[in-house]
Amino acid sequence: MCGIFAYLNYLTPKTRREVLEYLVTGLKRLEYRGYDSAGVAVDSDDGKGITLVKQTGKVKILEDAIKEFMTGHDIDTPISTHCGISHTRWATHGVPSDLNSHPQRSDEENSFVVVHNGIITNYKDVKKFLEKRGYRFESETDTEIIAKLVHHLYLQHPNYSFRELVEQVIQQMEGAFALAFKSKHFPGECVATRRGSPLLVGIKTKTRLATDHIPILYGKDEDNKEKDSATDPEHRPHGAGREVPMIPRTESTSEFQPLEDKEVEYFFASDASAVIEHTNRVIYLEDDDVAAVKDGALSIHRLKKSLDDKHAREIITLKMEIQEIMKGSYEYFMQKEIFEQPESVINTMRGRVNLVNNTVTLGGIKEYIPEIKRCRRLMLIGCGTSYHSAVATRQLLEELTELPVMVELASDFLDRNTPIFRDDVCFFISQSGETADTLMALRYCKQRGALIVGITNTVGSSICRESHCGVHINAGPEIGVASTKAYTSQFISLVMFGLVMSEDRISLQTRRQEILEGLKNLDSQIKEVLKLDLQVLEIAKDLFQQKSLLIMGRGYNFATCMEGALKVKELTYMHCEGIMAGELKHGPLALVDDMMPIVMIVMRDCVYNKTINAIQQVKARGGQPIVICEENDKETMQFAHKVLEVPKTVDCLQGVLTVIPMQLLSYHIAVLRGCNVDCPRNLAKSVTVE
Ligand code: AGP
Repeated sequence: MCGIFAYLNYLTPKTRREVLEYLVTGLKRLEYRGYDSAGVAVDSDDGKGITLVKQTGKVKILEDAIKEFMTGHDIDTPISTHCGISHTRWATHGVPSDLNSHPQRSDEENSFVVVHNGIITNYKDVKKFLEKRGYRFESETDTEIIAKLVHHLYLQHPNYSFRELVEQVIQQMEGAFALAFKSKHFPGECVATRRGSPLLVGIKTKTRLATDHIPILYGKDEDNKEKDSATDPEHRPHGAGREVPMIPRTESTSEFQPLEDKEVEYFFASDASAVIEHTNRVIYLEDDDVAAVKDGALSIHRLKKSLDDKHAREIITLKMEIQEIMKGSYEYFMQKEIFEQPESVINTMRGRVNLVNNTVTLGGIKEYIPEIKRCRRLMLIGCGTSYHSAVATRQLLEELTELPVMVELASDFLDRNTPIFRDDVCFFISQSGETADTLMALRYCKQRGALIVGITNTVGSSICRESHCGVHINAGPEIGVASTKAYTSQFISLVMFGLVMSEDRISLQTRRQEILEGLKNLDSQIKEVLKLDLQVLEIAKDLFQQKSLLIMGRGYNFATCMEGALKVKELTYMHCEGIMAGELKHGPLALVDDMMPIVMIVMRDCVYNKTINAIQQVKARGGQPIVICEENDKETMQFAHKVLEVPKTVDCLQGVLTVIPMQLLSYHIAVLRGCNVDCPRNLAKSVTVE
């Protein structure tokens, strides 16, 4: 969804041309998140004001508008200290338009500008409050109130620091946000904050920092707070039917803890992919942190201490490499990510699966295993592809843990107010770690005392931080909106969890052994499957003009049908359904005739005979199935109109191999239909709104 990128250079001279290039490149790295308009704010020619450039459409269009702006402006004089902010917007309040795009501004002078990810739920009340005080709104966004409120507070309290003003503002905000502010009244400063939407700060210095931690500065003790003019009712926005008191001022700015270095650059971004080419040293902000840069010093403030506060934010070193977020020789990120799977599955298992002594260690949940073994049931919760990884592994987890395993779509789980107990163990599966539905479900279960296990691909993400323990799937950055390598890595992470849980079960040792053997060969078998690419392309050429596609299977491979259908839908905009073969006679068979394109997954597992029955029913209605089956399975091939053969592995891992032809098929159909493979229409990589 929306993306924030801000850049501040302190005593490191940069021309505005360079700053604008940084901002545009930062936005390009965030494009994969999905957006419909973009904008930047930099200092104006005389350095006394702020220039905004905003455009509807792709970052390329913004880039062209910036080039146009550059002619006739002095953009090549180096500026020693400067702050620029930028944004890609995903429309929620108001259509995609230049006016609605961010940065949003306080007034015609552009005194304060702000970029915002998330949704402010009480914006109407604040808007009314500001309108009464003479503010005229130019956009339909919820964000504009933020720029105008900070301006209003600045006029009321001219002695407040920029950071203090922002602290006042966020006390009035309900909903979710990540924000970055710039102001002509506070040149060379940037203030950023978050609540419910991710934000990190990248730090680049010439020499290594003397500290790995930035201490948190707290507001004054609630009991000792002085009455301040800000508590004057005249200055209070009104919440829905109630007054929202202004907070007292927090500690003075003299508390800033400067970093050791004098020359320093800061990057504020929604995710690490936007900063990694500049620095790998980052701080992930927590909800309600206010990060401020003034005179080159970064400080992080919180208004109140909470019980689980860590008193400092750690500067962590990202392991990500710039190549991981570049397409390299591939046409699309999705294509690259499909072909990365032989390595990504190995990375998921690295340091965890020991094939010499047949053990599996998951460091992130090790201490919790005894508690998990005592639980009442396991709940696997996620959305979209992440949910499908739970469906794919449920049967194996039931077998290896001998516990009831419930698989839930996060949104439906919340709609039902599902009963949750203290002795439940709830897994939250999410590539991004930021999916709003999954995060809300996590908080719901946490409040009810369940043990929370996060299965995520994004270090520092909200789900990761709010879980009691968890497993990083280590698939590497996934940029294509359609999830591919994250699925196979989530799948393997859950299989590894099952293996950990069954380590001391004598009766399950033979089964464990065959699964471990299967894991050992998985990367080379994935390479074999990827060799089907040209064959899949030929099938895609037959299918790409069709209106509909049915994908059928059962048992361990039903998840492949659902996941394959999701890929086809989101990438090709073609109707596609994953059908449980056992359900055919209960309705879907009516869809089958000699015109309906059908893919069937037929593996030699315990449901083989039943799946063969299904294929015969399809054939009897004139259906011409494309069959995904095991290599050299001649008997099955006789039922097929076309065949894709995949290597045989252990039944419970077969889904890792059968899903890959479906990923390739959806990719090729999308290319043939001229669809935007990496950013399908109406979709975002990280769905941070409910
Ligand atoms: C997958 O191709 C989709 N783009 C989507 O279903 C995705 O899996 C879902 O939104 C959940 O995302 P998460 O894994 O980041 O939580």
